[in-house]
Amino acid sequence: MSGEGKVVCVTGASGYIASWLVKQLLQLGYTVKATVRDPNDPKKTEHLLALDGAKERLHFFKASLLEEGSFDFAVDGCDGVFHTASPVLLFSNVSQADVVDPALKGTLNVLRSCAKVPSIRRVILTSSIAAVSFNGKPLTPDVMVDETWFSDPDFCEKSKLWYMLGKTLAEEAAWKFSEENRINMVAINPAMVIGPLLQPTLNASVKPVLNLVEGVKIPCETYRWVDVRDVAKAHILAFENPTACGRYCLVERVANHFGIFKILRGIYPDLNPPEEYTEEKASEPTYRVSKERAQSLGITYIPLEVSLKDTVESLKEKNFINA
Ligand SMILES: NC(=O)c1ccc[n+]([C@@H]2O[C@H](COP(=O)([O-])OP(=O)(O)OC[C@H]3O[C@@H](n4cnc5c(N)ncnc54)[C@H](OP(=O)(O)O)[C@@H]3O)[C@@H](O)[C@H]2O)c1
Repeated sequence: MSGEGKVVCVTGASGYIASWLVKQLLQLGYTVKATVRDPNDPKKTEHLLALDGAKERLHFFKASLLEEGSFDFAVDGCDGVFHTASPVLLFSNVSQADVVDPALKGTLNVLRSCAKVPSIRRVILTSSIAAVSFNGKPLTPDVMVDETWFSDPDFCEKSKLWYMLGKTLAEEAAWKFSEENRINMVAINPAMVIGPLLQPTLNASVKPVLNLVEGVKIPCETYRWVDVRDVAKAHILAFENPTACGRYCLVERVANHFGIFKILRGIYPDLNPPEEYTEEKASEPTYRVSKERAQSLGITYIPLEVSLKDTVESLKEKNFINA
C-alpha cells in the first residue's frame, strides 16, 4: 500500500469531499490526522470512525480556520497536508465575511502551521473551479477553459460572488505564501462535486440533484460537474506523484440543470421536469474545460450518468429522498 508508514493531515475532515479523501487514504494505508471543529459532535466523526482502518490509523484534532495556530498540532510530524476545510455556501444569502475570511485567512493560517514543519513534503490545496473561470470573459461554445485561467477578484466582488471571491483570494494568497516559504504546493480545482455521501448531512453541491429529483424549481443554470470519488483520488495522486505541480481542473462535463434533469429522467422515468425548462435550453451548446492535466495525473473520469445515479441512490439510502 502506497501510504503505509506515512502520516498526513486532512483539514475539515468531516466534510463531503474530505470524508472520501480520508476513506481512500485509510484504504491506502496512510495514518490520517483529521481536523474537525468539534470532535465531540458524532455527526462529524461517526461516519469517519466507521471507515476501514480508522480504529488503527485515524486521529482527530480540534481546529478552526480563524483561530491562529489552531492547526499546529495536527500538521506536526506529517509527510503531507490536504487543506480542504472552507465554508461552501454556494446558494445561501451570505455576507462577504462569512466565506471570504475563513477561505483566505484560514488558508494562510494552515500554511503558516505547515511552514514550521520540515517533514511536510507537499501541501495539497482544495481550491475550486470558482477560482478559475469567473473573470467576466463570455463562456461561449468556442471557449476552452484551462488551468491558465484565474478568476478576477474585482469581477467577483462587483458581481457579489462571495464564494468565488473567497476561493480566488485564498488560492492566490496560497501560491504567494508557498513560494515565499518554499512550500511545495499543488492545487486541485474541482467543478460542482456530486456522487455518494459518506457524511450524514446534506452538503451544498449535492443539493441541486436533490432539488431536480424532488421537482423543486431551480434556475436552468450551467455548471461543471465531477464525481467526489475522482476528486478524492486526484488529491492523493497529486500528493503521491513527484512530478505533479501547479493546478489541476477537475471537470467531467459542462451541463445545465435541464441537461442534468434529462440524464436523471433517463434513469428514473417518473421524474417531472420543472415547468419553465425548455428543450432548446437542454441542447444549448456549452463551453469546455480542458481535461488534459487531470488525465496526465491519472484521472479517468467516472461518467456523469454514473455519478448522478450514485448520488440519488445515496440520497435515498440516507432518507433525503423517499425511496
Ligand atoms: N463541493 C463542491 O462542489 C466543491 C467544488 C470545488 C471545491 N470545493 C472545495 O472543497 C472543499 C470541501 O468542500 P465540501 O463540498 O466537502 O464542503 P463541506 O461538506 O461543506 O465541508 C466543508 C468543511 O469545511 C469545514 N469548515 C468550514 N468552516 C470552517 C472553519 N471556520 N474552521 C474549520 N473548518 C471549517 C467544515 O467543518 P465542520 O465540519 O466543522 O463544519 C467542513 O468539514 C472546500 O474547500 C470547497 O471550497 C468544493
